[in-house]
Amino acid sequence: MATLSVHDNGNHLAIQVQGKAKRFHAMWLRDNAWDSETRAVGNGQRLLALRDIPATTTIASAAIEGETVTLVFAPEGKSVTYQLGWLMDNAYDKADSNDTGWTAQSVETWDSDLMSDLPVADFTKVSADNHALAGWLKQVARYGFGKLENGPVTDLALMQVVDLFGFVRETNYGRHFEVRTEVNPKNLAYTGLGLQAHTDNPYRDPVPSLQVLYCLESSAAGGENMVVDGFRAAQRLREESPEWFDVLSQYCAKFEYAGEDDVVLRSRRPMIELSPDGELIAVRFNNRSLAAVTDVPFEKMDSYYAAYRRLGEIIDDPEMEVTFRLNPGESFVVDNTRVLHARKAYSGAGTRWLQGCYADKDGLLSKLASLQAKTLAAAQ
Ligand code: FE2
Repeated sequence: MATLSVHDNGNHLAIQVQGKAKRFHAMWLRDNAWDSETRAVGNGQRLLALRDIPATTTIASAAIEGETVTLVFAPEGKSVTYQLGWLMDNAYDKADSNDTGWTAQSVETWDSDLMSDLPVADFTKVSADNHALAGWLKQVARYGFGKLENGPVTDLALMQVVDLFGFVRETNYGRHFEVRTEVNPKNLAYTGLGLQAHTDNPYRDPVPSLQVLYCLESSAAGGENMVVDGFRAAQRLREESPEWFDVLSQYCAKFEYAGEDDVVLRSRRPMIELSPDGELIAVRFNNRSLAAVTDVPFEKMDSYYAAYRRLGEIIDDPEMEVTFRLNPGESFVVDNTRVLHARKAYSGAGTRWLQGCYADKDGLLSKLASLQAKTLAAAQ
């Protein structure tokens, strides 16, 4: 049973539920009214700008009946109803206790232990069954990558993977790119060397937030794919040295790619990007495209390079990596704002042919949220 009380001359409402009080400001409540004059019926978009709401808004009266809270706002004299559950779900009256480098509850960081429990699904199943698709997309959102098996071995099949959740992000590399290596030990130029784990295209702003890699041929030994959780690496750096974490998150690096005619891509962003309240938002790490760093003060540059070196060592630590092989018809999606990827070196003869493309996370998260909303609606 909830009880209401109005405080501070109508400035805020307190809702007591099971001995705990949650406070809501009059302005917040008025702005978040769901009546048809405030929100469009259908799309739910807000019809008012804040300027349409008096700055002197207060709560004139408050009442509760069952699960319905009714407030009257002055000076408009406007009566608005809210569902108690909605208010409690959206309560913001909580301790400000987030540590720098926190991650959302929907995100789980990992190390090599995840190898025994790879986020993997069957291409045919997720293509045919929304429940299976939602389950796989949830894993991709949670772990920052996910593998698909049993897909078609046909040119551009990777587009069918993107179609599951969103749209291709076309770049100067095209709608897709070929990753084709003829492994010939007699010619070192074509030997598939290993690559250090990296995020792709840090020189773009915004970066492509997803990458899809799809295997069409794989007869060479080695060449396994490897992923590392950049968020876990950043958290490890923070545990080892808050100073190093701070220097990589508080100062911008610069990245650049100008490797072809008519293309000069540049970005100025930190290697560890945080939201203003300390949430880990993105990791950019790519030795090949780091430009001269010029926005770190002289006094901090030693510390910056020590931190950059240590972050690289953490990323290179086998304890951090999850390795898997891609066979023809298999693919993986990686969150390029978080998870670094690499390819191990090849040995022996054979071929390896992958096709890759970029996409964006907004589409994936939207697809996931809409599938979850439908499941919830069906259960009610
Ligand atoms: Fe890459």
